[in-house]
Amino acid sequence: MSRTTGTALVLVALASLALPGAAAANEPGADKIVDALNTIFGKQKARASHAKGQCVTGTFTPTAQAAGLSKSPNFAKAVPVLGRFSMGGGNPKIPDATKAAVRGLAFRLDPDGKSSDFVFVNAPVQFAKNPTQMLGFLEARFPAADGKPDPAKVKAFADANPETTNQGKWLASKPVPASYAGVNYWGIHAYTLTNAKGDRSVIKFKLIPTAGEAGLTDDEAKAKPADFLVDELKERLGKGPASFDLVAIMGEAGDQTNDPTAMWPEDKRKSVKLGTMAIAAVADNAKCDSGVFDPTQLADGIAGPKDDPLFEIRSPAYAVSLSRRAQ
Ligand code: HEM
Repeated sequence: MSRTTGTALVLVALASLALPGAAAANEPGADKIVDALNTIFGKQKARASHAKGQCVTGTFTPTAQAAGLSKSPNFAKAVPVLGRFSMGGGNPKIPDATKAAVRGLAFRLDPDGKSSDFVFVNAPVQFAKNPTQMLGFLEARFPAADGKPDPAKVKAFADANPETTNQGKWLASKPVPASYAGVNYWGIHAYTLTNAKGDRSVIKFKLIPTAGEAGLTDDEAKAKPADFLVDELKERLGKGPASFDLVAIMGEAGDQTNDPTAMWPEDKRKSVKLGTMAIAAVADNAKCDSGVFDPTQLADGIAGPKDDPLFEIRSPAYAVSLSRRAQ
């Protein structure tokens, strides 16, 4: 049994119980949220969310500054990377040019050693600040008699929960990405890095493509085939690695650490380059599908937020999804 599968089984058991942390009091269980995703997208042998994706491998090479912020062994020397690019949502056939969906990048630094998992998307904010709000967001989109969400319910939920529109507004304001390797990705939650001296920094992670961002006009997007992102990735990797800089955006007093719908004023914050991730090749999807990228799986020197209920529910929700797609 792989480590991730073993972890998943334990977490599946936890998922049906009340969540462990104080932040989770009165929140719905992970199984309820995965049920809601399954109601919208249908039950299938695929991830409940980010069903469509491509597994990849590469290398992460840290900068000298990284060790000044974190004692993580993942930031001490070049380490192998297992990653997966994906399209948001539970539809395994979603067209790659869909503007309203996020693109995802999950990656494990040092899959063979003391690893850390990161699960990012191409927006700096999430569409819900806690599991209750996420469930409400999904329920408002449950298919009506005609098989589509009822626009009046979607609007009523958005009006009552305006912060849940922040992610959609962000995506609408940007072009459709021309490449999985041509867009910024964020970790969204506030993480704490601890160095060897015990100094702590509250940060947000961001991946910046070294080749720059590349977008499509709406007309160009319309003309693209359904799976163009994977085709483009394979072509690109045939010529050389697709690289991203991993940066830490340094938090300042007053920056929210427990609300993933709230954005930090990034352009006013210092950022430190932690290293470069070079994605070198596509890998057999089975390599990524046999387990989960678990955002709470972090090596010493990197910690997730303790007071963010959305962060807390991700690990058990991913485990529920794995248990269903592995059946
Ligand atoms: C900042 C918040 C979040 C981000 C950035 C995010 C992003 C992602 C990404 C990129 C994946 C694909 C992982 C892969 O390629 O294997 C994923 C999977 C998934 N996400 Fe999230 N997610 C967030 C929060 C949540 C929450 C709160 C839930 C549910 C409570 C959730 C439910 C799921 C599920 C069920 C999967 C499929 C897991 C699997 O079967 O491997 N996500 N998410």
